[in-house]
Amino acid sequence: MAIGVFDSGIGGLTVHRKLVDRLGQADLIYLADQAHTPYGGKDGEAIVDLTRAGCERLFAAGCDLVILACNTASAIALRRLQQTWLPAYRRDLGRPVNLLGIIVPTIEAATGMPWEHEAERRGDKIEKLDILAVFSTPATARSRVYEIEIDKRRQDVAVFVEPCPTLASLIETGAGAIDLSTAVEAHVKAISARIGRPPDRAILGCTHYEIVADMFRAALPPETPLIHQPQATADALADYLRNHPQYDVGTAGRRVFLTTGKPGVQHSLTEAFWGGPLNFEQA
Ligand code: DGL
Repeated sequence: MAIGVFDSGIGGLTVHRKLVDRLGQADLIYLADQAHTPYGGKDGEAIVDLTRAGCERLFAAGCDLVILACNTASAIALRRLQQTWLPAYRRDLGRPVNLLGIIVPTIEAATGMPWEHEAERRGDKIEKLDILAVFSTPATARSRVYEIEIDKRRQDVAVFVEPCPTLASLIETGAGAIDLSTAVEAHVKAISARIGRPPDRAILGCTHYEIVADMFRAALPPETPLIHQPQATADALADYLRNHPQYDVGTAGRRVFLTTGKPGVQHSLTEAFWGGPLNFEQA
């Protein structure tokens, strides 16, 4: 048995990497739906159908748990699949499989942070406001999941979401550093202009963006912390596994990388991030 890690492409490898560090010998099967990437500009029904197909493939490969290492799939498809598809699928399969997203662990890491920022002083009244920037795909931005989930937990955090329509594709296709940093800088500038100042903290709300986290780091002021979703997800999954021993995630440290797209070695941006060539098999 194993843990499945699903993304539209290479972005979920950023989560996979932290799962390896955190969970050691668990068996991991990664699936990149590169035949259909990017998801961020697709409509909701298409994202739900593609995510379900990816999960079926991973459960069929022997996964007990599937992590949607994709904000777009987590935002649009997770709840729908958990409520309307998974219960019957689980019954038919005859084993306790489950599907987990990455947005709630990220939000818990973001809202659990202790500090607040004193943004404005009007007369005697001090208004504290912590401005959180989220960079995401257009579909994740349209879902408003970050605003809704953060508002449930913290009313003193104002969330600004910046949709980045082409960034995931640029990363997926291995664009050069200049094109990537130009795009990142433009989005940081745009959101800072909307806020009226740089954000107090930022979330890279698309797993592809972690691959260029250093470019976001350089474009944002040094005092603006980045909340790292892969680490938050790995920590949350380790807790989840402790509390749910019924899931068998293996102990052999098996690593399988599958793609619905073109099999073979991925481009150099992936290698640079991964630390070596990464060979994908046909899903
Ligand atoms: N990596 C994905 C995410 O976290 C999807 C990017 C895309 O396919 O548009 O949203």
